[in-house]
Amino acid sequence: MSSTPRTYDLIIFGATGYTGKLTSKQILLNSPTTLKWAIAGRSSQKLELLATDYNTTYPDRQPVETFVSDLSEPALDNLTKSTCCLISTVGPYLKYGTPVVAACARNGTHYVDSTGETPWVKRIIEKYHEEAKKNGAILIPQCGVESAPAELSAYALVKFVRDKLNCGVREMVYTIDDLKGGVSGGTAETALSMFEHCSLSEILTSANHYSLSPVPGRPLPYTLPFRRHPTFGYLTMWIQAIPDTTLVYRGWGLHDEGQYYGKNFEFREYKKTRNFVTAILWVIIFSALSALPFFAPIRWLTRKFVTQPGDGPTTEQVLKHRVEWRGIAEADDGRAVHQRAYVSFRAEKDCYELTGILLALTALSILFDEDTLAKKIGGGVLTPSTIATERYFKELEKAGVFVETKMLDWLRE
Ligand SMILES: NC(=O)c1ccc[n+]([C@@H]2O[C@H](COP(=O)([O-])OP(=O)(O)OC[C@H]3O[C@@H](n4cnc5c(N)ncnc54)[C@H](OP(=O)(O)O)[C@@H]3O)[C@@H](O)[C@H]2O)c1
Repeated sequence: MSSTPRTYDLIIFGATGYTGKLTSKQILLNSPTTLKWAIAGRSSQKLELLATDYNTTYPDRQPVETFVSDLSEPALDNLTKSTCCLISTVGPYLKYGTPVVAACARNGTHYVDSTGETPWVKRIIEKYHEEAKKNGAILIPQCGVESAPAELSAYALVKFVRDKLNCGVREMVYTIDDLKGGVSGGTAETALSMFEHCSLSEILTSANHYSLSPVPGRPLPYTLPFRRHPTFGYLTMWIQAIPDTTLVYRGWGLHDEGQYYGKNFEFREYKKTRNFVTAILWVIIFSALSALPFFAPIRWLTRKFVTQPGDGPTTEQVLKHRVEWRGIAEADDGRAVHQRAYVSFRAEKDCYELTGILLALTALSILFDEDTLAKKIGGGVLTPSTIATERYFKELEKAGVFVETKMLDWLRE
């Protein structure tokens, strides 16, 4: 990063949106009170209202300031040269995200976002990884529920196996175990607009396991989209599997070019289901539903009925929401029957609140933790696990997000 002093430690761009507000809340709750920060967006009126509310509610903190910016190059240069780190919740990222990342890479500004759009992440890696690295900018996309929990869980499990057994990992099966939540208008719009900003071939190419990996991997065997697992039971296709898997393999490649996770590492993500019939039915329904947004009239009609941008699950709804992912990996220990390790990633929270926590804590870790892989690499398009130190996991815990690992008893579990 440039050594010229900057006005702010952190700016949240898109602070007037549903996720932006939840991220600001986490900064107010979990960052040093002396943090110099600002909320940014295109509407000064909306920003002023929020800043007044935050400064009245938290009078002991350094007051939050406002910063008006649109997406033009001069405005984004001004925005990104004013801060050490930018969190952007301005989405859809395929539509709005590229000039923001370009400005951060150009001006050596650290960057964090909540995209789940793998084709876009592939584009920004190809265009801006080298420039960002040269200018010392750490860019970490996909810090929301897509796909930080999966990438952090894979890293936590591999680290646990390395520390305990001094070997890598073979297959890791990861499941969404419990999900009670809703969808924001921004997410609905992002899912629909993907088909307006990407060709089918770009979507398919970016869905390859290694599409984001910095190093090539061995060809992976084909597996059916449903299965029965000895511990998890019946498993089927899951919507987050593509963005999660591609990010996990970028993490695999960034940690010692795949050597740390191991050359036999495989990551497979599913959703839990009741039996084989529901597993197969879900694959059929899910595949049919995924094809529908390719048709413009269906997108037009869907937009009439889904939550509108700016909105999301209500305060009453989120009180009942929780989420838990669980994973099991076989150690690459050379035994005939491999030892198995387990990870759980759990939050008694709504997914958007969890996204706010992950965005805020990732940015704070970039700003204040010198002992991260990201700092050693020096910059470029990286993953959440490259800032995940013990201190980071402790901060997650303080915020109500629990990542737990243990060995499994192979006789009983
Ligand atoms: N994958 C995940 O895990 C995950 C989780 C949460 C969110 N997300 C993603 O995060 C993004 C935001 O979601 P959300 O629900 O917070 O959306 P939202 O409520 O619609 O907020 C969007 C924000 O972007 C701003 N914005 C829109 N167009 C702009 C432009 N041309 N110039 C400047 N600012 C602009 C909006 O400003 P105004 O207020 O002025 O309109 C608002 O602040 C979406 O892409 C969503 O998919 C992903």
